[in-house]
Amino acid sequence: MRKDLVGQFSEEQMAGVDRLIEAYRNVPGSLLVVLEKAQDITLYLPVNLQRYIAAGMGIPPSKVSGVVTFYSYFSTVPRGRKVIKVCSGTACYVKRSGEVMERLKRKIGIEAGEVSADGEYSIEEVRCLGACGLAPVVIVGEETFGLIDPEHAEEIIEKNGQRGERS
Ligand code: FES
Repeated sequence: MRKDLVGQFSEEQMAGVDRLIEAYRNVPGSLLVVLEKAQDITLYLPVNLQRYIAAGMGIPPSKVSGVVTFYSYFSTVPRGRKVIKVCSGTACYVKRSGEVMERLKRKIGIEAGEVSADGEYSIEEVRCLGACGLAPVVIVGEETFGLIDPEHAEEIIEKNGQRGERS
């Protein structure tokens, strides 16, 4: 099972997952933490990795998939190192989030659900992010951008890159 995963993830990533399993195997109630940390390492949690974690932790695979499915934080499909989340809730939609999405897709050169060739970005459309007063809203990685001017939506990628370089 591990051999197949090494084709999908690097040896380094798998070693990180193994260390997690080792550290938390006997810690009751630690599954959520393990999955969060595992996703930090692998960026997504496909079914075969979920099974691997379940086997390592000595718990049923259904328990792992139940948690992964329940929390929208988890992804079972590949993601970039920075996930761009474009809100398409009503308030954002009215403030032209569709145009924001189109411009960001063009800027990065990918469609929603895809990962850029360098692995840096992926784009997702999400429902209300709970910041409707700031519509249209986009999250890039850990950073939230509000009141975006749709005609200059690309600038948030540049701004995010600059802040990333400084930190
Ligand atoms: S609709 Fe976009 S933040 Fe609420």
